[in-house]
This record gives sequence, structure tokens and C-alpha cells, in this order.
Amino acid sequence: MQNLITTSDFTNEEILSLFDDAKIFSDLQTRPILKGKLIVPLFFENSTRTRSSFEIAAKRLGADVVSLDVGTSSRSKGETIFDTVANICAMKPDLIVIRHSQRGLPQSLVEHVSCPIVNAGDGENAHPTQALLDLFTILEHFDSKVKGKKLAIVGDVKTSRVASSNASLLPRFGIEPIFVAPKHFQVADTKLRQYEFLSEIIDELDIVMSLRTQLERHSQIYYASLQEYAKDYCITKKCFGKRDILLLHPGPVNRNVDIDDEMLEDKRNKILKQVQNGVAVRMAILKKLLLQN
Ligand code: NCD
Repeated sequence: MQNLITTSDFTNEEILSLFDDAKIFSDLQTRPILKGKLIVPLFFENSTRTRSSFEIAAKRLGADVVSLDVGTSSRSKGETIFDTVANICAMKPDLIVIRHSQRGLPQSLVEHVSCPIVNAGDGENAHPTQALLDLFTILEHFDSKVKGKKLAIVGDVKTSRVASSNASLLPRFGIEPIFVAPKHFQVADTKLRQYEFLSEIIDELDIVMSLRTQLERHSQIYYASLQEYAKDYCITKKCFGKRDILLLHPGPVNRNVDIDDEMLEDKRNKILKQVQNGVAVRMAILKKLLLQN
């Protein structure tokens, strides 16, 4: 049985074949190949896009979805996460999607469950489906010319699971991730190139991935206000100029902090394309784990 806990669970060949399916699914039309399968999303952390993306993907493939409303579940009555999951498993779902603030939790659940698990984000650790949809969006644009392309991940790279999953996935396909972050957000133990300002590297770049500042994961206050941070890190038309650079963001975007209004209207912005591709890629992942396992 195969799970998706980090992107290293899939070989490059598996990822490319997953993307072949995602291309077929990219019109997001209904194809009921998972009829009779039951998918349980367990989101112990906030989510708009990822949760709805998984649910829409499952329903477009004809699967049934039963989401646990964590706020009203027995977690608030003192049950441990392991017991909650054991109880869900006793009801025989075919696949569990889990998001939790604790790093490593999806991995530690693997041996306790009898169905595939998909990690929808564990703390600062990993967000494999986001990195896969990012790679799919990049490949859709650059196709066979992707090798040697350079992507700057800008902002709070230190606490971002999107940054860490992309940093390990993209080099496998010949893309160089580069971190651009204020000193307090820089990563100490990385082999990647790291810069303080986008202007130092922008002329080399093919792709910019802007990130939200993950205030909920900070143990201290690093700067006076988000507006203060935005002075140097908000992506504007002025900083992109006429350069042919693709602009990505995993969402949710803090308007005029991560990216300004004008750049959100710009043709180089592929954020909604990422959202659309996210459903197609998750459809392909559900198909793979439910039909090939
Ligand atoms: C991200 C996440 O939750 O890790 N969003 C997402 O899944 N699309 C990034 C974020 O919360 O800023």
C-alpha cells in the first residue's frame, strides 16, 4: 500500500505518469472512476484551498467524502489524535487525507491505519500535494525547456512547508530553488543559494514563488508590522519590470503584503492556474493511491 507523506514517496517516473493523468483531468469534469470509495479528510489546521481541492477532486471522481468537523469532534473532549484516527479507521474508509500542526504526525499514523494516508500539510515539515501541483504548473508552462530554470521562493521560507517540499522536489526535475528572505527568515542548514533581497537575483530568475508570512508559526515578533515587511518583499510590477517571470503563490495571498494589486492582475501571475491544477493533480493522486495500491 502506498501513501503520500512527502514527495520522496513517489519516483520521478511515478510523478510524470501522475501528471499524464492530471493533464487528462485538467478540465475538472466528472469521471466517476472512484465510485463506491470513501475518502475522509481530517483537517486539524485551517484550510480553504487544500481541503476544498481534495473534496472537489474526490467528488469529481465519484468518491464519497465524509469530512470530520474537528471543532465539534471528540478532540475537544480530550481524545488523542491516535484514538480519533483509530475510530475513523474502524469505519473502514478507503483513504484518509490529514493536515495537522504537528510535524511528522502523518508519518507516525501510517502503521496504525489500514488505508492510504495523504499528508495535506504537517506543521513546517511538508506539503507534498502543493509541491506537486506547483511542479505541474511549472512543467505545463516550460515543458521540455524546464531544465536549468531558476525559481526564487520569497518570504517566510523558514517556517513554510511549501518551501521545504518544493526545495526537495524541484531539483529532481532540473529546477534550481533559491531562497530570498529577510535575515530572520533565512534557513541555517540549507545547500540552496540564499539572498536577502530579490533585486540581487531577479535577472537570473524564471519563476518567483511568493509566500505568506506564517505568523501563527512564529514564537516571536520579527518586525513592526506586515507593512514594514512588505516594503522590501511585496512583489510589485516595479520589481518584475518587463522580465518574463512566472509568478506563483500557494495561497492564501495577503494582498499588498505578499503581492500587490497590480501584479495580481498581471498575466505573469499563475495563482488561479495553480488552484485549478491543484484539483487535477489531487484527482490523479487519489486515482493512483486508490486504484493502483
Ligand atoms: C499553505 C499551507 O497551508 O501550507 N497553503 C496551502 O496549503 N495552499 C501556505 C499558507 O498557509 O500560507
